[in-house]
Amino acid sequence: MCGIIAYIGNRPCRDILIEGLKRLEYRGYDSAGVAITCTGGDGSTRICKTVGRVADLEAKLDADEPKLDGTLGLAHTRWATHGAVTDPNTHPHTDDTGTICLVHNGIIENYQSLKKLLEEKGRVFRTETDTEVLATLISELYDPDHGMDLEAAVQAALREVTGAYAIAAISSKDPDTLVVARKGSPLIVGIGNGEYIVASDGSAIISHTSRAMTLDDYSVVRLSRDGLRTSTIDNVELSPKVMQLEIELGEIELGGFEHYMRKEIFEQPRALRRTMSGRLDMNEGCVVLGGLQTHAKELVRSRRVIICGQGTALNAGMIGEYLFEDLAKLPTEVEYASELRYRNPLIEEGTVVIAVSQSGETADTLAALHEVMDRGALGLGVINVVGSTISRDTDAGVYLRVGPEIGVASTKAFTGQVTVLTMMALFLARRRMMSGTEVTAFMRELERVPDHIEKTLEQDDAIRTLTEKYIHRENWLFLGRGYNYPTAMEGALKLKEISYIHAEGMPAAEMKHGPIALIDDGMPVVFIATQGAQYDKVVSNIEEVRSRGGHVIAVATEGDEDIRRLAEDVIYIPPCPEPLSPLVAVVPLQLIAYHAAVLRDKDVDKPRNLAKSVTVE
Ligand code: G6P
Repeated sequence: MCGIIAYIGNRPCRDILIEGLKRLEYRGYDSAGVAITCTGGDGSTRICKTVGRVADLEAKLDADEPKLDGTLGLAHTRWATHGAVTDPNTHPHTDDTGTICLVHNGIIENYQSLKKLLEEKGRVFRTETDTEVLATLISELYDPDHGMDLEAAVQAALREVTGAYAIAAISSKDPDTLVVARKGSPLIVGIGNGEYIVASDGSAIISHTSRAMTLDDYSVVRLSRDGLRTSTIDNVELSPKVMQLEIELGEIELGGFEHYMRKEIFEQPRALRRTMSGRLDMNEGCVVLGGLQTHAKELVRSRRVIICGQGTALNAGMIGEYLFEDLAKLPTEVEYASELRYRNPLIEEGTVVIAVSQSGETADTLAALHEVMDRGALGLGVINVVGSTISRDTDAGVYLRVGPEIGVASTKAFTGQVTVLTMMALFLARRRMMSGTEVTAFMRELERVPDHIEKTLEQDDAIRTLTEKYIHRENWLFLGRGYNYPTAMEGALKLKEISYIHAEGMPAAEMKHGPIALIDDGMPVVFIATQGAQYDKVVSNIEEVRSRGGHVIAVATEGDEDIRRLAEDVIYIPPCPEPLSPLVAVVPLQLIAYHAAVLRDKDVDKPRNLAKSVTVE
């Protein structure tokens, strides 16, 4: 949800900012802009912005004369919240005197009242954005001759603000200072050799330095070429928290693949091996999760689990509900974080809340977690991005370790989340009622999942051909039961988000209660019909679809020849225990969505209107 990058140092920063924006483009890609305090000349700050992608901004910069470059600058790639996608609404924004220049990710909730106050003071606005209001407020307070330098003005302005922000600000009167701040939206400060690179995430920093400083909410950092100062918005000095970024460049590059989504689908076997590595103790028959160790006793005594998340993370959480009840025998419910946060939930003693989130920054998931933890629940995270806000705000948690996920449509994070939830369920099950032998047997099956995925990926060409056959259909259904009802939900979500084909996922039995009216000759209906407790029931549902002319595509277990009698197309996956089947069954669905988007000539990695990390409500 908007990407920010800013630089102060001794190198010309134009290319650093553009490269950073490209890395952050997954966060929003409506429009992009850059502001640089020019080296030489009058030292003024010049801005270049445009509706479109970072590549469009780059082309505009290339055409710009004289060339825009300097050693202090900031840049932004936008996912619009306030104001249409237009050049004026594109960041960076300045106040009406052109003194303060600002990029912002988040939402200033009280911007209307602040705008009114500033208008009464004669300030003029030219955009519809909340960011311009913040730039103007900082400018109104900015008075370097009387002790209100940029840092102090930013602090004072942020004391007036409600909402979420990650910002970077510069002043045309101070070519040696960059001030950044955050609350709610992510921002980290990369510490290089005589330079700082500030960005929404580490992917935009890692090619320059692996040392980075994380910022807590309400922190403000003043950066100059001589050093940095960290404080709160109330000017209480803080000591910097420095960490090592654990990203490898290869992980954030395409590496020969046409799209990140394709790369990430094919990375799943390796990624999941990493998720499990060192965590399955076959000798002791238990799962070793260092992140949960300190709370193991509390967890064993827990009486109820609430899993929350949004989008794909919620679908993974739904599988978690089955796993926790089935394996660990713990009453579990799963809920959209956006609903949970406002539902006034009843939290009894012994409640554990698990926030599932790839980014660890999703606003609703974070808010739900806080709401439930404030009511006394133990808060756990199932998170991919190390050091992200949710991972820091939970009591304990387990990282996915699947590496950076860049494609907006989540794939390896989903299977990573389900793998971690499986291990968490086993961690508890072993301490509650499962024997070491049983857990070992289950873990051996879990360990084989990456091999099953590899085998499934070999059918890529066949899945492309199958998708081609149905590519002109505008409505698809995805149906499954039990563990594979959430898989069906995830298959439908993947298809609609990147190919813009209308798709619905639901429990197979629910089809009879309405959606069956949609089925006519030619509607593709994907059934997850793997072997399991409800196989026969799924087969009956397939018959119902067939008799109404629907085209059945079945994801079935190898060796199930009977299914060919009913389904026009069958994709086989290797046999595995039912609780593990979603991890494999989802892979063909990811590939169907991928091929549909490519065949329809859609932007696979940057689907319209979406953003990878949703840091607004
Ligand atoms: C956005 C993304 C989805 C993702 C969801 C939750 O909608 O487009 O792919 O599943 O946010 O994100 P999280 O980072 O919390 O997993």
